Amino acid sequence: MKVTVVGAGAVGASCAEYIAMKDFCSEVVLVDIKEGFAEGKAMDLMQTASLNGFDTKITGTTGDYSKTAGSHVAVITSGIPRKPGMTREELIGINAGIVKEVTENLVKNSPEVIIIVVSNPMDTMAYLVHKTSGLPKHKIIGMGGALDSARFKYRLAEALEAPISDVDGMVIAAHSDTGMLPLLSKATRNGVPVTEFLDDAKQKYVIEETKVGGATLTKLLGTSAWYAPGAAVSVMVQAIACDQKKMIPCSLMLDGEYGESDICLGVPAIIGKNGVESIVTISLTDEEQAKFTEAAKAVREVNGDLKF
Ligand code: NAI
Repeated sequence: MKVTVVGAGAVGASCAEYIAMKDFCSEVVLVDIKEGFAEGKAMDLMQTASLNGFDTKITGTTGDYSKTAGSHVAVITSGIPRKPGMTREELIGINAGIVKEVTENLVKNSPEVIIIVVSNPMDTMAYLVHKTSGLPKHKIIGMGGALDSARFKYRLAEALEAPISDVDGMVIAAHSDTGMLPLLSKATRNGVPVTEFLDDAKQKYVIEETKVGGATLTKLLGTSAWYAPGAAVSVMVQAIACDQKKMIPCSLMLDGEYGESDICLGVPAIIGKNGVESIVTISLTDEEQAKFTEAAKAVREVNGDLKF
């Protein structure tokens, strides 16, 4: 199986590294616009192969999409990341043009491709790919919920003083500081609701820290994070490559699910060899549903800035 990763920057390279380390693909092609950058990252990563024990072949190209031909999955990470104090939504001006152009090149060379959208503002970029690629909707998946849920579990484990493997939880709705919806009502510690362990102050702490998880790292790093985003993408690519039918929250085009249509928002879905095998409908409390609807309203406003 061949995977293309467009954007050989922080997230793209981390994603390629995790995919190679798990050794479930035959080939990863890195593409970047910066002369020699993807080739350099690919060579550096290939020189870890004998050290880390993988056989995945990683190659790089400066914008030659013929090298991506026949990709089963393509990951779009190209574009600019945010700087401290910026919102993801502020990136739309530059990133929309990049994502549109990259999508055209990918589909031209791999008409059967499944696209995972990472570039921000991700829900809006996923929507743009739906509107411009001509691909069926089960083949376009936005990455946000997998990462946000990992950050939720990190904060849950911290507040519970428990090992991360003991906790489970999911984040849905928008991949934005305000529109993220960590589902505390459904989070568990070894099957027991976490609300039985955490007082109101700790519950509020977990929710707030999860929502600003990306911004906290951007402040510390001076740019946005890459290890957890790369790992989250690799989990999604593996679910497709190995037909795992794994439930992962992803930003998907909705058609009535959770009361929304013609919008990409984070919902739980079964991910397998066809991309989105199905969307899972879970019951939300009235408060959660109201927050989901509010998040949709905000994303719809950002989508309104797109020019096709
Ligand atoms: P980066 O700046 O390290 O890498 C981006 C790369 O894209 C650069 O190497 C750049 O040369 C390349 N690029 C720009 N235009 C291109 C084009 N037309 N074709 C090919 N390559 C092109 O940025 P980083 O940190 O890797 O972030 C990438 C994107 O992912 C940002 O928009 C960021 O906000 C987003 N992101 C999304 C996350 C999510 O959960 N959805 C998590 C983390 C980052």
